[in-house]
Amino acid sequence: MRGLVFLCLIGCSLANDAVYSWNGPGEPSQPDPGTDNVCLSDSDTCGCCLMQKQMMRMESFFNMSLNEMRKGLEKAETALNYVRSSRSAFSVALTDTRRCLTSSRDDTVVKYQSIFLNLGDGYNVSTGAFTVPRSGVYALALTVYSDAGAPGALLAACVRLRKNGRVIAALSEYNTQDQEDSATTILAMQMQAGDKMDVILPPGCYLCDDSSHFNTFSGFLLYATD
Ligand SMILES: *[C@@H]1O[C@H](CO)[C@@H](O)[C@H](O)[C@H]1NC(C)=O
Ligand SMILES: *[C@@H]1O[C@H](CO)[C@@H](O)[C@H](O)[C@H]1NC(C)=O
Repeated sequence: MRGLVFLCLIGCSLANDAVYSWNGPGEPSQPDPGTDNVCLSDSDTCGCCLMQKQMMRMESFFNMSLNEMRKGLEKAETALNYVRSSRSAFSVALTDTRRCLTSSRDDTVVKYQSIFLNLGDGYNVSTGAFTVPRSGVYALALTVYSDAGAPGALLAACVRLRKNGRVIAALSEYNTQDQEDSATTILAMQMQAGDKMDVILPPGCYLCDDSSHFNTFSGFLLYATD
């Protein structure tokens, strides 16, 4: 009797590596050649042994499932952290106090001084440039406003939006009929990390602003592509 239990336990521990297949309640279990012979001679002892074996198999089955779920959770957390660290959005206005800007001879970079939002610190207030932190599709919006100072005086509200020093869009409004004018452009662009966006004020163009923030420059990441 003792010898049989011992044999049976050896049989159980050898069979632990077998793949567990779940047939569902009520369905016949598969015959197991490793234990059936022993069980022919002592069915009582082996009933307990088989149960122990089944429990070990179930335990390893649940262990495997748990590990798979842990891996899945780790992946989801990594993806979420990536999305969080990619967040980038800026929105700036020219100034808070009443003044007009112009450039006399050369193109001048417009340095927007009033910061609404600078999530991810992509906009640099001392250079006026937005440096793309992560490659992706960005939405950009630029609005300009100018005041000729007097009716009939020349009005020139004009700037150029640049990507890496190259003009990609321009706003222009020359009109002697009225005194004030405003223009807007909105675009979506694929950009690479490190690209620089800035706004140029060409000679002879004017921007006027005050705390109403008539001149704004904004951009935000729609989705990352790296
Ligand atoms: C299941 O996991 C526990 C804890 O990690 C471990 O102690 C046990 O031996 C594992 N069981 C099987 C059958 O792999
Ligand atoms: C802004 O640009 C200046 C000049 O290139 C640089 O010295 C400074 O570190 C930049 N600031 C930030 C926050 O990157």
